[in-house]
Amino acid sequence: MTDGAGRARRWRTALVTGASSGIGDAFARCLAAEGSDLVVVARDGERLDVLAEELTAAHGVSVEVLPADLGAPVARHAVEQRLASRDRPVDLLVNNAGFGTNGTFHEMSVDREEQEVQVNALALLRLTHAALGPMVARGSGHVLNVASIGGLYPIPGSATYGATKAFVCSFGDAVHEELRGSGVHLTTSLPGFTRTEFQERSHWEGQEGLPGFAWLTAEEVARQSLDGVWAGRARVVPARRYQLLTAATAPVPPFLKRLIMGRAQDVAW
Ligand SMILES: NC(=O)c1ccc[n+]([C@@H]2O[C@H](COP(=O)([O-])OP(=O)(O)OC[C@H]3O[C@@H](n4cnc5c(N)ncnc54)[C@H](OP(=O)(O)O)[C@@H]3O)[C@@H](O)[C@H]2O)c1
Repeated sequence: MTDGAGRARRWRTALVTGASSGIGDAFARCLAAEGSDLVVVARDGERLDVLAEELTAAHGVSVEVLPADLGAPVARHAVEQRLASRDRPVDLLVNNAGFGTNGTFHEMSVDREEQEVQVNALALLRLTHAALGPMVARGSGHVLNVASIGGLYPIPGSATYGATKAFVCSFGDAVHEELRGSGVHLTTSLPGFTRTEFQERSHWEGQEGLPGFAWLTAEEVARQSLDGVWAGRARVVPARRYQLLTAATAPVPPFLKRLIMGRAQDVAW
C-alpha cells in the first residue's frame, strides 16, 4: 500500500496509546514516517498537540489528538468508541500506555496498584475488544499489545506490574490463536529495559546498577515490534540479547525463577 506521496506505508490509520512519551512516541514517529495517519492517546493533551504538529509538518500525515486517562472508564469509553467507528477505520491499534510501581506490595497504596491494573491490563483488554469487532468484520487489521519481558517472571518489588504484563502475554497468545484465519492478527511485544520516562515515573532506583548493554532505545523497540506485527507474529522480543535471555530462562522451573528474582531485587532495588 502506498500513500499519496508514494511511500510504502503498512497501515492507513494507527491508534497509539501512551504516545506522549517514550516507546509510544517512537511508535508514532515510525508510523508517521512511513505515511500512516494517526490517532494519538495519552493524558497529556499538550504534549500530544506538539507531537501532532511536528509529525504533520514533517510527514504530511493527519494526526488526531485524543486526550484520555485510560484508567478512567468515561475517558476510556471515548477511545473505545473511536476504535469501533466503521466510518473512520483504524487498521492498527497499539496498546502501549502503561506504568510501573515499586515497593513491597502490602505497603503501597492499593488504589495506585488498582490503577496499574486498570491502565496496563483492563484498558488494553477493552480497547482490543473495541478494535477487533470492525477489524474482523473487514477481514483485516492488526493489534499490537506492549507487555514486557517482566511478564515472563515474578517481579518481587513490582508484583502488580509483573502480573499485569503476564496478563498481557497470556491474553495476547490466546486471542492470537482465536483470530487464526480471520485476516486479523494480534501481536504481543515483550521489551527489556528501555530508556524512557518509565523508570523515573515508577520511582525505580535500580537503573544505576544496570550495565549499558542492557538498555534498549525506544526506537529499536518500536521498529522491531512493528516489523513483527506486519509479519503476523504472536510474540516479538526486541533485540537479540533479550531473545537469548528469554530462550535461556524459559526452562527454569518457577520456584527457581522466584528465588532468583527475589535475590535480584535485594541487589538492584
Ligand atoms: N521502559 C521500559 O524499560 C519498558 C520495558 C518493557 C515494557 N515497557 C512498557 O512500554 C510501555 C510504554 O512505556 P515507556 O517506557 O514508554 O514509559 P513512559 O515514557 O513513561 O510512557 C508511558 C506512556 O503511557 C501513558 N500513560 C500512562 N498512564 C496513562 C493513563 N492513565 N492514561 C493514558 N495514558 C497513560 C503516558 O502518557 P501521559 O502521562 O501523558 O498519560 C506515556 O505516554 C508501557 O506499557 C511499559 O510497561 C517499558
